[in-house]
Amino acid sequence: MNTLIAKALRRPGNLTRPEIAELLDRSDPTELFRAAYGVKLRYTGRMVFLRGIIEFGNYCAKDCFYCGIRRSNREVKRYCLSEDDIVRMAVWAFEQRYGSIVLQSGELESEENTAFVERVLQKIRVVTDGKFGITLSLGEQDEETFRRWREAGAHRYLLRIETSNPEFYARLHPPDHSFLRRVECLRVLKRLGYQTGSGVMIGLPGQTLDDLAGDVAFFRELDLDMIGMGPYIPHRQTPLGQGIEVTPAYAAAQLQLGLKMIAVTRLYLHDVNIAATTALQALDDRGREQGLLAGANVIMPNVTDTEYRADYQLYENKPCLDENAAQCRTCLNGRITGIGEHIGWKYRGDPVHFRQRVGEAVIRLTK
Ligand code: 5AD
Ligand code: FES
Repeated sequence: MNTLIAKALRRPGNLTRPEIAELLDRSDPTELFRAAYGVKLRYTGRMVFLRGIIEFGNYCAKDCFYCGIRRSNREVKRYCLSEDDIVRMAVWAFEQRYGSIVLQSGELESEENTAFVERVLQKIRVVTDGKFGITLSLGEQDEETFRRWREAGAHRYLLRIETSNPEFYARLHPPDHSFLRRVECLRVLKRLGYQTGSGVMIGLPGQTLDDLAGDVAFFRELDLDMIGMGPYIPHRQTPLGQGIEVTPAYAAAQLQLGLKMIAVTRLYLHDVNIAATTALQALDDRGREQGLLAGANVIMPNVTDTEYRADYQLYENKPCLDENAAQCRTCLNGRITGIGEHIGWKYRGDPVHFRQRVGEAVIRLTK
């Protein structure tokens, strides 16, 4: 076995940044994927956890250069679901035995938005059983907002750092978007007791393997519980997407790099939850299955009503635009059993890392 892989398997965090970059640079990743999948099996066996994602609105105050729903994109038809619609979709996912949902939208900061989400969370809590996992993915917020949402029933939060290199971050965003604030939000979320997730885009123009190695190291420095990352996919109505042609060779390279990042992250962090994200499937029909076989253990099927899906395109070629939630459920079940794994129906699927992190804190407090 490759000596770096053997070293990584011994314990979490057992690689230097150049070693992480070296693993990402391997041209034949078969051994890498197999080893990472082995680590995944150690922690969660052949089970895949589902989080039904509800993309409840595409109004966004941010203007990230890569994102299709950035505020300056006038071609997007903007929508926001009603409280009752969101609750209905959440209840559907609950009744269909999904262990968790994710509520995602564009980034908005206002008392109106805070109160809206707070009411939705309270309603969902009333109609589910208290074991249902509720994740938010609603961007940067002030501490008070994070606290109110936590108290209303959310217990996980996803906030991608997008890239851990501050100078590179500055090239991907307008000047008023702050890298430091995003990092600070992640710290606040952890302090408030959220299971905290972050991630990056992979294969951005100008990104180096050293940047990506830095991203993997960043996940550990922040002691994150969940990682959601995926390949960058150009969107024609964005500044960053100009002039990039998605040829089959480009798509294949983006997919491979995305899979390698999953594998190396699994080998470096061991016990976190890692999502096989939808962007993988945008590049290859079997992208998510390949993600699972490279060490991911979570999938986020879309449970939003079909009529809204086309208006929530962060990147082009988003899959499942014409399917509905029930079709995606059946489809995924087939895909997951097809690779010898099974869905953890009704499992909330908390990351082992979080249980240990919190358990340790409790032990420290009682000593
Ligand atoms: N390609 C891939 N991922 C993207 N995201 C936004 N735009 C793109 C794109 N063009 C990701 C960002 C964001 C998440 C919700 O979607 O990482 O955090
Ligand atoms: Fe939506 Fe396969 S997951 S159709």
